[in-house]
Amino acid sequence: MDTYILGIESSCDEMSASIIKNGKEEIRTIILTQMKIHKKYGGVVPEIASRCHIESATIVLEELFEGTSLTMDNITAIAVTYGPGLIGSLLVGLQIAKTLAFVYDKPLVPVHHIAGHIYANNLVEEMQFPLISLVVSGGHTEIIYMRDHFRFEKIGGTLDDAVGECYDKVARVIGLDYPGGPLIDKLAHEGKDTYKLPLPLDDNSYNFSFSGLKSAVINLVHNEEQRGNTINKEDLATSFQNTVVEIITKKTMKAVKAFHVKNLIMSGGVAANKGLREAFEKLCNANDIEFTVPRGKYCTDNAAMIAAAGYYAYKEGLRGDMSLNAKATSSLYDYKKDYK
Ligand code: KG4
Ligand code: ZN
Repeated sequence: MDTYILGIESSCDEMSASIIKNGKEEIRTIILTQMKIHKKYGGVVPEIASRCHIESATIVLEELFEGTSLTMDNITAIAVTYGPGLIGSLLVGLQIAKTLAFVYDKPLVPVHHIAGHIYANNLVEEMQFPLISLVVSGGHTEIIYMRDHFRFEKIGGTLDDAVGECYDKVARVIGLDYPGGPLIDKLAHEGKDTYKLPLPLDDNSYNFSFSGLKSAVINLVHNEEQRGNTINKEDLATSFQNTVVEIITKKTMKAVKAFHVKNLIMSGGVAANKGLREAFEKLCNANDIEFTVPRGKYCTDNAAMIAAAGYYAYKEGLRGDMSLNAKATSSLYDYKKDYK
């Protein structure tokens, strides 16, 4: 029998609902983003995000079943992001999920946001194990080893800023809007690699550090301004992106070789980055590694990934009840503790 998971994601500034069949087939996904609202403030304002979520919730749910042959009767379980994320934002999605589970008498499946990002890849191609999973987003930069579904082992991660955070801060310094990641990505394809930036934490570990790179860009911009010089934004974007791509691909490919895997998957908002995608495609081709990355829309936050992960979490027997709470911080590696 087919399993239909209704997923809900609201951890930051996107309110989204999705129905996924058997963990891999998308029936319908609705994403309402508040990006335009937060742009005015240069970043996400948590209080505004949760208030907007309340307004978006009914629209998203009303539209979800439109054009499908499904009703709530066909839904097997409700999967929801319980954390990590903005607490007020998370609580809205969680309350919707709990209400649906209660009213329609469906199992409630808690999903860790990062597990969701990882499983966005299952919508492209069924994940083959063992694999290395690179998660690059606004809040996370992690290299994870997976021997099977829902077996997450951390290999390395950022010691300070996440790579998306670094993109957004660098963008702000050169006068670009929030979120700056996609804008830098675009500029990076129009410039030349002329600015010298340090390759951050270029050591033998699988860890990353992006705060030094961020400071290097800020200092460079200020120094040039003091000298009365204008920054070439395209060239700075190219130099910055090349540095990021070099360190991320270097450490990830090292992990792929050391852990003898033939599959690499990448996810998270920064996985939409053209420079990073092209670099990995080239490297994986040359090294006979199967490389998967979600379509652009499913790199950033969405409920399709939560429903896909929710299918495997459901099969694992992971369940929440009406006492399930939102968690602003939560580790992927011992997430089961969060709701036991
Ligand atoms: O996964 P996501 O939607 O939210 C978190 O869970 O953090 O990621 C958002 C992040 C932002 O920092 C945004 O600037 C970055 O992903 N991003 C990009 C690109 N598209 C989104 N960064 C670099 N290049 C892109 N094309
Ligand atoms: Zn995310």
